[in-house]
Amino acid sequence: SLHFAVFGHPIAHSLSPQIHQAFARQFGIALDYRAIDAAPDDFADAVKGFFSDGDSCGANVTLPHKSAAFALADEHTQAATRAGTANVLTRLANGRLSAHNTDGGALVRDLTYRHDLDLRGHDTLLLGAGGAARAVAWALFEAGVQTLTIVNRSPEAADALADMIGEPARVHTRYWEDLAGIGSFDLIVNATSAGTLGQSLSLPFSLVGSRATCYDLGYGKSAFGFLAWARAAGARYAYDGLGMLVEQAADAFELWHGKRPDTEPVYQALRTQGS
Ligand code: ATR
Repeated sequence: SLHFAVFGHPIAHSLSPQIHQAFARQFGIALDYRAIDAAPDDFADAVKGFFSDGDSCGANVTLPHKSAAFALADEHTQAATRAGTANVLTRLANGRLSAHNTDGGALVRDLTYRHDLDLRGHDTLLLGAGGAARAVAWALFEAGVQTLTIVNRSPEAADALADMIGEPARVHTRYWEDLAGIGSFDLIVNATSAGTLGQSLSLPFSLVGSRATCYDLGYGKSAFGFLAWARAAGARYAYDGLGMLVEQAADAFELWHGKRPDTEPVYQALRTQGS
């Protein structure tokens, strides 16, 4: 069978092996999909070791390795280059490693198809300007959000992201300190790593518009704080990133196997199992 893996640190609780095996069963494909824990200093060697096996075709990459994965690849898709990070590494026929980022497309698909949101007409607030935020900013912009306001604790990163997109009429930045005075939004996406780091964001309720959707890119414990804030502020919908996780896995699966899996039963199974 063909070999695949997910690299992270920590990685023990990763849902990716389960998701990829469920997709593979939909097509009767047998695959070997391992979770590989690599400390940051060991990541590049671990990836090289994995791909030195001729049966190894592709790897997913999660925290904290997405920037390193981008850096060690030989080729980069546009989505990866825009984000400066990669969550998918694929070995090409010529042996070179290609980096791709499926996170932004996955968020848009989760919002649009699973949660039935028409992004056009949505004034959108993006919290954060790190790797995760860069991946989703472009995808939200291209999906046609009416405006995209990027706010980051350190303003330079937000400005750099907005400048890179280069559409000042639709995409602009504000200061984190000014959040209480910038009005309300229809869609608020938390792309900070605060939840993952066990830190809480103190956000004003005034950000949440009357029909607002709030979305945390994380899931499980890391999303609890932001989603609790969103519900307390009266958001119409508050979603975690479990759907995005399943969608980004589906993109990698399709890239590797040439077949599009049905994500809904896999998503529902993970929800039921309490993820
Ligand atoms: P990731 O890959 O998860 O995006 P990252 O590239 O390190 O990780 O980016 C982390 C993001 O979360 C940054 O936007 C960071 O803000 P700074 O650029 O100011 O550091 C943001 N972040 C992390 N902890 C935060 C906190 N407690 N409050 C606000 N923003 C936070």
